[in-house]
Amino acid sequence: MDFSTLANTRYSVRKFSNKPVDKATIEQVIDVARKAPSAVNFQPYTVYAIMQPENLLKVKACYHRDWLNGAPAIIVVVGNKDMAWKRSADMKNYTDIDAAIFIDHLTLQAADMGLGTCWVCNFDIDGLSEALQLKATQEPIAIIPIGYAETHEPPVKKRKGLDDLLVWM
Ligand SMILES: Cc1cc2nc3c(=O)[nH]c(=O)nc-3n(C[C@H](O)[C@H](O)[C@H](O)COP(=O)(O)O)c2cc1C
Repeated sequence: MDFSTLANTRYSVRKFSNKPVDKATIEQVIDVARKAPSAVNFQPYTVYAIMQPENLLKVKACYHRDWLNGAPAIIVVVGNKDMAWKRSADMKNYTDIDAAIFIDHLTLQAADMGLGTCWVCNFDIDGLSEALQLKATQEPIAIIPIGYAETHEPPVKKRKGLDDLLVWM
């Protein structure tokens, strides 16, 4: 897919088919995502690929939505705040930004391979940190269910128009 087609057709998938996703496919998605840029190239994240049923249940328990139960696999991107670049002028920590770029690469690569994903950030932070046994310096950034979508009809994109967000100067 060329990039504009990919950007136009990727959408949040919340209904997955029964088709399983294999480990090699998930690894390929993550392998491309790791080429994402990050501040000073510090790459302050760890990626958890969750496929074992008992671990899937633990993660799904941190975001109670029926649709999530249908996800055959889940990727959790964890930010390592102590490894991120901090801007010296104001000590702004770039973990979230770096992780977001990584996740965006990941969701687009998944879409290019015919897989559906959805960013999920409204999860139980303490519950997920405990399920993954994270350190105090680590923070779960997003849960990303991944699998094959039940339908292949991308919804019409609702977005601000150029006039609402573009400022020419
Ligand atoms: C940072 C971020 C957090 C999000 N958190 C959630 C979430 O907790 N639950 C959910 O169902 N969707 C979540 N989404 C998905 C958005 O609702 C979705 O991307 C947006 O409505 C645009 O739709 P699209 O992805 O289909 O283009 C999140 C998206 C982003 C980028």
